[in-house]
Amino acid sequence: MAEGQPSSSLQSLVDQHDLKWIFVGGKGGVGKTTCSSSLAVQLAAVRQSVLIISTDPAHNLSDAFKQKFTKTPTLVEGFTNLFAMEVDPNPDVGGMEQLEWAQDSFLTELAGSIPGIDEAMSFAEVMKQVQTLDYSCIVFDTAPTGHTLRLLNFPTILEKGLSKVMSLKGAMGGLMGQMGRMLGGGDGDPTEQIMGKMEGMLDIVKKINEQFKDPDLTTFVCVCIPEFLSLYETERLVQELAKYEIDTHNIVINQVIYPDTVGGSKLLEARVRMQQKYLDQFYDLYEDFHIVKMPLLEEEVRGVDALKLFSRNLLVPYVPPVPRQVGTAREAELKAEVKALKDQVEALQKELRTLRA
Ligand SMILES: Nc1ncnc2c1ncn2[C@@H]1O[C@H](COP(=O)(O)OP(=O)(O)O)[C@@H](O)[C@H]1O
Ligand SMILES: [Mg+2]
Repeated sequence: MAEGQPSSSLQSLVDQHDLKWIFVGGKGGVGKTTCSSSLAVQLAAVRQSVLIISTDPAHNLSDAFKQKFTKTPTLVEGFTNLFAMEVDPNPDVGGMEQLEWAQDSFLTELAGSIPGIDEAMSFAEVMKQVQTLDYSCIVFDTAPTGHTLRLLNFPTILEKGLSKVMSLKGAMGGLMGQMGRMLGGGDGDPTEQIMGKMEGMLDIVKKINEQFKDPDLTTFVCVCIPEFLSLYETERLVQELAKYEIDTHNIVINQVIYPDTVGGSKLLEARVRMQQKYLDQFYDLYEDFHIVKMPLLEEEVRGVDALKLFSRNLLVPYVPPVPRQVGTAREAELKAEVKALKDQVEALQKELRTLRA
């Protein structure tokens, strides 16, 4: 847990310069991709190099940045140190053949018999690649909750898989040797080769798992919206993360409608009331979390400029535009505008200082 009082921004997270792995997750459609991309944009301003990885089969980093990404890290246009990649967490729907370990057809067969291991191996492969690339910070735009939690459980799955292979080794050793020769496996005992590969993978995954459990290196940012289902899902997520010993102390509540923007709309007024109820519950339940409110905008958040603008509110609380009024209300209006501008100047000065540092 971060030191100090919880604040209503992600500033302390951005200031945590040793942080290496940042997971961003929550229910589908709440704004995970938007918020993780925004966070990556803010991190790129203060960290040497940042990589954002989407592990959601419904990739939309490309949509958010309006730039096509692939499974190799690509520089995001408009940046010198922000990279993005989209990986396929389901190797059985393509991509599996490209994995080094899957070249061995027997291992592929075997993997098929252990639920979740193909996914775990493909994840391990990605992590191996990412580790050698040496980014200072890696942001994960994760798939909806269930999927993400499985991903965090991969080291356990791999360990189980390995012990299953070991128990099969005795019984199948001869057969594997024959198959290996038939497939032109060359020298050496293929069983040993397979074991070696799996052990190598397990090693990497174990190391990564240690890092994931270190709150100085890893944290999980929960994204949600102020509605019942999302509150419920967030609580489930927070509890599961505790079970996996993964730090989490930041919540982004996205798509918040501010009362000042309601105008005369009965519909919006009702939504604001509903949202307020759940906002209160979030603040009650997570009083030791940094909780950031992000505004529901009239437009989708797409493209680097929109993301840059939106992402500022991860650090500086959003102030809705004050409706035009006459008389004494004008004073309040100007005050709010001055405050918003001051906040923005402060954030920009900070950015400048960091860039110069
Ligand atoms: N605060 C917001 N205001 C307006 N549109 C938003 C906001 N947050 C997200 N969106 C839009 O909603 C859609 C879904 O958001 P996205 O980040 O892709 O969700 P997820 O990754 O959780 O499925 C996108 O089109 C995005 O631009
Ligand atoms: Mg998404």
